[in-house]
Amino acid sequence: MSDLTAIYPPPAEFAAKANVSGMAAYQALYDKAKEHPEEFWGELAEKELHWFEKWNHVFEWNPPFVKWFVGGKTNLSYNCIDRHLNGPRKNKVAILWEGEPGDQRAITYQELHRLVSRFASCLKARGHKAGDRAIIYMPMVPEAAVAMLACARLGIVHSVVFGGFSSEALKARILDLEAQLVITADGGWRRGKEIRLKDAADEAMTGCPSVKDCVVLRRTGSTVPMQEGRDHWWHDLDATASEDCPAEPLDSEHPLYVLYTSGTTGKPKGILHTTAGYALQAAMTMKWVFDLKEEDTYWCTADIGWVTGHSYIVYGPLAAGATTLMYEGAPDFPNFGRFWRIIEKYKVNIFYTSPTAIRALLRQGDQWPNAHDLSSLRLLGSVGEPINPAAWEWYHRVIGKGRCPIVDTWWQTETGAILIAPMPGAVGAKPGSGTLPMPGILPEVVDFNGNPMGDDREGFLIIRRPWPSMLRTLWGDPERYKEAYWSRIPGIYFTGDAARRDKDGYFWILGRVDDVMNVSGHRLSTMEVESALVRHPAVAEAAVVGKPHEVTGQAVCAFVSLKKGDHDTAALGKELRQWVAHEIGAFARPEEIRFSEALPKTRSGKIMRRLLRDIVNNNTVSGDVTTLEDMNVLTRLAAQHDEG
Ligand code: WTA
Repeated sequence: MSDLTAIYPPPAEFAAKANVSGMAAYQALYDKAKEHPEEFWGELAEKELHWFEKWNHVFEWNPPFVKWFVGGKTNLSYNCIDRHLNGPRKNKVAILWEGEPGDQRAITYQELHRLVSRFASCLKARGHKAGDRAIIYMPMVPEAAVAMLACARLGIVHSVVFGGFSSEALKARILDLEAQLVITADGGWRRGKEIRLKDAADEAMTGCPSVKDCVVLRRTGSTVPMQEGRDHWWHDLDATASEDCPAEPLDSEHPLYVLYTSGTTGKPKGILHTTAGYALQAAMTMKWVFDLKEEDTYWCTADIGWVTGHSYIVYGPLAAGATTLMYEGAPDFPNFGRFWRIIEKYKVNIFYTSPTAIRALLRQGDQWPNAHDLSSLRLLGSVGEPINPAAWEWYHRVIGKGRCPIVDTWWQTETGAILIAPMPGAVGAKPGSGTLPMPGILPEVVDFNGNPMGDDREGFLIIRRPWPSMLRTLWGDPERYKEAYWSRIPGIYFTGDAARRDKDGYFWILGRVDDVMNVSGHRLSTMEVESALVRHPAVAEAAVVGKPHEVTGQAVCAFVSLKKGDHDTAALGKELRQWVAHEIGAFARPEEIRFSEALPKTRSGKIMRRLLRDIVNNNTVSGDVTTLEDMNVLTRLAAQHDEG
């Protein structure tokens, strides 16, 4: 393996054509944004977005609440579609799609306009309007993007729920948003099996009195029950739809979407993003980080249910006028060559995926990628979790053939857009580092009191100044917003990540410092899984920790104590894993469950997760255990593992 701090400079040929070429160009942008933020963002907003009415001020900062482009009127659906229609992009492919069974579609900007206008006019005709809330629970099909864009067109606040979430998780989100509208499908394809979404939606919607309409797309063609009055087939509504549905001029700060993500309690946080600032930064990072060119075919493998799907499959690429590829299914279906085949087939130029996917595919051997022509690739990206140097090297050598820069992009659901990543024609890479901040972003590594740490010292990652695409609040819970992000170091955005900055100013993200796990690049709170476990009638107490996992980064490990009675722990272990999948979703299923009579606690009754982490990581316990209530519990938990 190469020296960890070796810099891979931007290849000369790449740099020569890059949107931002050379360090001096990056530095100039960065300095301007730092010194004159209003001018910097104001000029970009004017140039890069369409405005129905111009704003009065670039931003208003009343910590911790911010407004961007105050007083302006715009519309993200218009910016993603309509404004491209009067020029050479009219018949450019906007969405290139491949279904898991191999079906494919190529939708031009003009056609996307027609589809979105038709669907938006159906929603409008049924009385849905700006400020209402819609839940989108769909497979990775173009209509998922159409639904998002139709909502954005009318100002309906959407919340996309990942298709892997269970009906329970879906219900919690419908209730929290008091959504009037649910947009779903009969099902979708995953590893050749149908994921039956409408069944889950039906279960979720019972007990959700706010839901007036449920629109159902026919994807798999299987039979689903339709409730008279509430449920409507997409194609039935579409049959009489108007194609005339202009984008509503919306306030810059009009709520665009709410995306639920795990926090440190059992209840997910509804991250609220608004219109103009989000649109601007999503579009700009497409140009800066992905070096987007007019002729590129760009593919991000994320699911639309995560923030990466929002910012880098739908809104960012379309606002920037890109051709964005969407793939419905699994990377290993029908075999481990699927991703490489798609790259070859569509001549993908920019490929953006997660370290988990890279590690999983790396393990299958080089014969899979080597069987395909990957020469169209010019840039590779990584997101969601730290990428280990071995996976980075493989990605660089075997996929990028040593030619393609890799952009390791650090950001969060909360940040809306990429905040730390190399501009690939300017900033050299060090495997495992997100490198340098984007213009306008002032990250820092600090101690508990907010004092900057020296070079190469570990601390908390914070961001010093508000940026256009940052979350505005948590849906219905401004107090939790203040407490979760702005109270650890008063008035400063706290990311929840640990990091260090090296002497070259490069950021190295070390993982979460709170009770959030990162499994396959998906955020999952320990409390969320614990609350699910204790809802099971046999469980007295549960404590969950993440343990290192070769492929998924972390895996869920649960410690469970049972209520009195006779238990068949082998059977119960299986049942509890299934239970968590039912309560949250299959991706949250614990890999390991350990039973114990009690859990290690401090005298004040707090579960000592740090000790449990020690047990799963090295099966030993170190550090201060004097506050422990019952040391025997620990010995038993560790011993259980030795017995296998
Ligand atoms: C982690 C995903 C290291 C980090 C866009 C962050 C990363 C959390 C990286 C956000 C990266 C994301 N390197 N860690 N390049 N990207 N993370 O909200 O811990 O699903 O706080 O957003 O993922 O996860 P989220």
